[in-house]
Parts: sequence; C-alpha cells; structure tokens
Amino acid sequence: MGKPHAAITGIGGYVPDYILDNEELSRMVDTNDEWIMSRVGIKTRHILKDPEKGTSFMAVEACKDLFSRKQIDLDSIEAVICTTTTPDNLFPSTASKICGALGIKNAFAYDMEAACSGFITGLSIAAGYIESGRIKRVLVISAEKLSFFVNYQDRSTCPLFGDGAAAALIDATEEEVGIQDFIIRTDGQGYPYLNLKHSGSESPVTEEHIRNRENLLFQDGRNVFKHAVTDMSQVCADIMERNQLKGEDIDWLVPHQANLRIIDAVIQRTSVDPKKVLINIEHIGNTSAASIPICLWENLDKLHKGDNVLLTAFGAGFIWGAVYLKWAY
Ligand code: ACO
Repeated sequence: MGKPHAAITGIGGYVPDYILDNEELSRMVDTNDEWIMSRVGIKTRHILKDPEKGTSFMAVEACKDLFSRKQIDLDSIEAVICTTTTPDNLFPSTASKICGALGIKNAFAYDMEAACSGFITGLSIAAGYIESGRIKRVLVISAEKLSFFVNYQDRSTCPLFGDGAAAALIDATEEEVGIQDFIIRTDGQGYPYLNLKHSGSESPVTEEHIRNRENLLFQDGRNVFKHAVTDMSQVCADIMERNQLKGEDIDWLVPHQANLRIIDAVIQRTSVDPKKVLINIEHIGNTSAASIPICLWENLDKLHKGDNVLLTAFGAGFIWGAVYLKWAY
C-alpha cells in the first residue's frame, strides 16, 4: 500500500455583508472606478464593519458553512491550522479560539502566517501530516480581516483589500486524487516592500506611529507587482514541467486574486485556456490567505472529481508557490 494522499473533501466560506464599492472609496480618497478597474480589476470588496468582531468570527462562520455541507464528527478532526495575517490577538492563537467556539476538542491547533500564500502553505503542511500516516483529518482555515490594518487614507493600497474566510477539510485517501505536488519559496529580500512597519516586538506601535498611520499596511506596489508576476509565473512553469503538465492538461488554474494584470501574466506564461481560470477579484478583492479558498468555494459547482487543479499565490515576505492537486469529489 502506498502513502495516503491528502485530499480536499469539503470547503465552506464566509464574506461579511457590508460591500465597499469604488464609488464609496472615491469619496474617501482621490481615486475613481475607472483607475481601479483598469489598473487592478476590483469593483467591490466585503468589509467586516463590526469593530467587536475579528478574524475568528469569519473563520467560525466559514467552518459552520463547511459543516452544513458535509456532516462530520468534530472529534475526527486531528489538527486545525488557521492561516492568517490578522489574528484576533498576537497570542494565543486564533485557531485555539475557533476550536473553542466550534467545540473541536480532539485536535491540536495553531496559527500559521504566510501572508497571501497562507492557504497553499497550510495545504502543504496538511499534506505532510497526512502523508506521514499519523494524521487522517486536518482542517485548514484561511481568514483575514485586512480592513483592520488597511490605511484608508492611502489610495494606492486601500482599493485592493477585502475581508473574508474559507475553511477546507483535508482527509487521507488511498485514491489517486488530492495533493500531488507543491513548490513553495521565500525570498526575505522582499520584506521591506510589503509590511506593517510598526506592529511587533522589534518596533512596538507608539502614539506617534498611530498619528502618522505607520502602524498600518505599507506597500511598494511596483516592486511587489514585478516580483508577483515573475515568481508566480515561474513557479507555475516549474511545477507543470516537474509533473509533465501542459497548459491543456490544467482543468482549473486558481491564482491568488491580487491584481487582474498579474493573473493575466500568469495565464500567458502557463498557456492555460483563460476559460479555465477561476477569477472572483472583481467582487471580492484581495483577501490575502483567504483568496484562493474563497474562489474555490464560489466555484464548487464547476469542479469535478479527477480535475487537474493548479493553485498559485504570492505574498508579503516574499513567499510564493504553487500546489498541484487532483480534485477529490
Ligand atoms: N487611484 C488613482 N490613482 C492612483 C491610485 C488610485 N487608487 N493609486 C495610485 N495612483 C496613481 C499613483 O499616485 C501614480 O501617480 P503618479 O504617476 O502621478 O505618481 C500612478 O497612479 C501610478 O502608480 P503606480 O503605483 O505605479 O501604479 P501601478 O500601476 O503599479 O498600480 C498597484 C498600483 C495596483 C498597487 C500595483 O502596483 C499592484 O497591484 N501591485 C501588487 C499588489 C500585490 O500583488 N500584492 C500581492 C500581495 S498582497 C499581500 O501579500 C497582502
């Protein structure tokens, strides 16, 4: 008997009700729908307005949606990984809070931060646990309340981001489906180009930082754009070559939803038929770690057992990569 494969066997999702559109944004900063649509491709994004609700609220809602679609015994979940850049608190983990809210008692749980590559990194970790044979069921949750640290006075970043969550159940299977391969890379030279400058132990936030809005998201967009295009395209080419896949072999390409122009560049490099690319950036925006699983969740009716699916993401760090999987249900 070969090693078990790790397969996604269910996905749930949640986006908050409040919709921030380009018209409202153009009353907040000097921007307009035409600029945002032509340069980025986003029209609306969902925002969790309630200041008393954090990332765990959306994560729990996404899990409830998953459990309403797939009846499972909560005691069968052995590990819970919450991938987020916006935990409820620096510690303890948001994963622990989610387990408490849902009544998951038989799992170890922790947060994992890989910015926009959170979901693909979480999947690769889950695959490692499952392929080792020790663990049979992992819950990977990707949830982000990015509105918490977006600077709504900075027109170059505030149109980009939205809030949301998705949860994926990963099960061991003997079938030839599930995660087949992954490549994930980090280049720490990218650290200065996208970050929260004052937010942690090296430079705790002060009143002056707050006054100057230096506790909020900073991005050198041109540099991030350049690396995102090059690195996502290259990692897709590498994983396709390693698995003898050509563009026509990919049934669904699911790229991180950061910028429509970045997605177009990846489509060109992979030669995947544009009709086979799942895109929801126009109405969801960039939800960082949650972006890929929300896109899968919204398109579940298109996915069929055995489909070749290629996921690819790029995020702050820089950390980027690709996961090749065969859809399992
Ligand atoms: N409305 C109108 N004008 C704007 C806006 C806006 N919202 N934002 C910027 N501009 C202006 C700039 O001020 C600049 O004007 P200037 O030439 O007079 O100085 C001009 O538009 C061009 O600015 P650029 O920054 O060069 O615009 P660019 O085409 O690079 O688009 C963007 C900016 C959308 C941020 C792009 O660089 C991008 O998508 N970067 C990558 C983002 C990304 O992929 N992030 C991934 C990871 S996210 C994560 O990990 C959390």
